Amino acid sequence: MRKLLKISMVGLLLLSLCLQTMAQSNYKTETPDQKSKRMSWWTDARFGMFIHWGLYALPARHEWVKNYEKMTNEQYQKYFEEYNPDLYNPKEWARMAKEAGMKYVVLTAKHHEGFCNFDSKYTDYKSTKTQFGRDVIKEYVEALRGEGLRVGFYYSLIDWHHPDYTIDRVHPQRQESDSAYARLNKGKDMAKYREYMKNQVRELLTNYGQIDVIWFDFSFPGKNGKGAEDWGSEELLKMVRQLQPNIIIDDRLDLKDKDYGWDFESPEQYKVEKWPERNGQKVYWETCQTFSGSWGYYRDETSWKSPAQLLELLIESVSKGGNLLLNVGPTARGLFDYRAQDRLKAMGEWMKYNNRSVYGCTEAPAEFVAPDNTLLTYNTKTKRMYIHLLAYPMGNLKMKNMADKVKYVQFLHDASEIKYRKGSGDDSQSLNFTLPVLKPWTEIPVIEVILK
Ligand code: GLC
Repeated sequence: MRKLLKISMVGLLLLSLCLQTMAQSNYKTETPDQKSKRMSWWTDARFGMFIHWGLYALPARHEWVKNYEKMTNEQYQKYFEEYNPDLYNPKEWARMAKEAGMKYVVLTAKHHEGFCNFDSKYTDYKSTKTQFGRDVIKEYVEALRGEGLRVGFYYSLIDWHHPDYTIDRVHPQRQESDSAYARLNKGKDMAKYREYMKNQVRELLTNYGQIDVIWFDFSFPGKNGKGAEDWGSEELLKMVRQLQPNIIIDDRLDLKDKDYGWDFESPEQYKVEKWPERNGQKVYWETCQTFSGSWGYYRDETSWKSPAQLLELLIESVSKGGNLLLNVGPTARGLFDYRAQDRLKAMGEWMKYNNRSVYGCTEAPAEFVAPDNTLLTYNTKTKRMYIHLLAYPMGNLKMKNMADKVKYVQFLHDASEIKYRKGSGDDSQSLNFTLPVLKPWTEIPVIEVILK
C-alpha cells in the first residue's frame, strides 16, 4: 500500500513538472490563429504614442548625447543631480494621447543612458533617488489606465551606466583597437549585467499589473557588438512570456530567426514600400516615428513634420497593414513641448471625424487600385473601404474595378452623400465619384465606400 502511494506521488510530481514545462514553452508553439487573437487589440488600435523621457531631456540635444559627446559617467552625473521634472503630470500625457486618437502608449522605463524611471531594487540610478523622488512609471501606468489606454514599456538592452556592461562599438567610451577594448573591459562581467536586466524586467512585469507591450532596444551583433547571447535573450523572452502571457514584444532581441522570438517588425523612421513579409508571409508591423528627428527632447531642432505629413504617415501605415507609434520627447520640466501639443491636437481633430478609416482597418483587397494621390484602407468586418484624398481632386474621382460592388458612398467627416456613376466603354468597370469642387474643411478628406 505504502509503495503504491509512493509511486502515485512520484507520478503526480512528474505530471505537474510536465504541465509546468508545457505551459512555459506554450509560446513556442502558438498557432497563427492564437497569435492573431493575442494581437487583435493592437491591430485594431493602429495608433500609439511612444514617449522617450530620461536625463537626456536636460541637455536637450538628443537622447544619444552621452554617446555623441563621449561623456563619462562623471560628466553625465550633473543631469542626475539636477533632474527635477516638477510639472510631471502623466494624467495630462494620457489625456493628450487619447485625444489624439492613440490607443496605447510606450514609455522608456530605461533608455541607453541607464537611468531608470522606476523604483528598481537593483540600482540607485533611478528617479526615486533624485530630488524629484517619484516613481515615474507607477504614476504613468495609473494615468493610462484612468484613460482606458493600453500600457507599454520600452526597456533598453544597452546600458551606458552599469559597471558590468562591457564597452562596445556604440558605447560612449568606444575604442579604436582590440587591445584598448580588452584593457577597459577587464573585470567587467556581462553575466552580472544579464542578471541585472532580468531582475529589472521581472520588476517591471510584476509590480505594475497587466503590461500590454514590451519594447526591447536594441541588438547590434558582430565585432564589438552585442546580440542574443550577450543579453540572454532566450531566457529573457521566456520569463516575459511566463509573467505576462498576453504581452506583445518587438523584434530587437536578436531572435529574428525564431518564429516565437518576436511579435512585430519595427521599421524605424522610414516608410515601408509595401506590407513587410518574411518567408512569403505578411508580418505584423509598427513603424516608430518622431515629430522632428530625435526621440528625446531636442530644444533646437526645427525639422518638425506638419500635421498633414503625420496624418499621411498614419494612414499610409494602415493602408499597408501596419501601426504607427508616434514619439513625444517631454521636456525636463515634464511637459510636452508646445510643438508636439499642436500636432497632437491637429491629429486628434482629424481623428475625431475620420477614425473609422483607421481603427480596425487594414490594406484594401488587391482588386482595388488606389487612384493617384490617394491611400486606401479597408475594414474587413464592416466591408467598408476608405479613400483618403491626399491632394484634393477637381470635382471628380475615378475608381477602377468598382462598378456593381457599391451600395452607398459618403464623405466620412460629415456623412454627406457622394453621388457616383458607372463609366462606359473601356471604363465600364470603373465608378466616377462626383465631388464638390471646394475641398471639405477636414485636413485629409476621406470617402467612405460601403460595399455590397
Ligand atoms: C533607436 C535609438 C533610440 C530610440 C529607438 C526607437 O534604436 O537607439 O534612441 O529609442 O531607436 O526606436
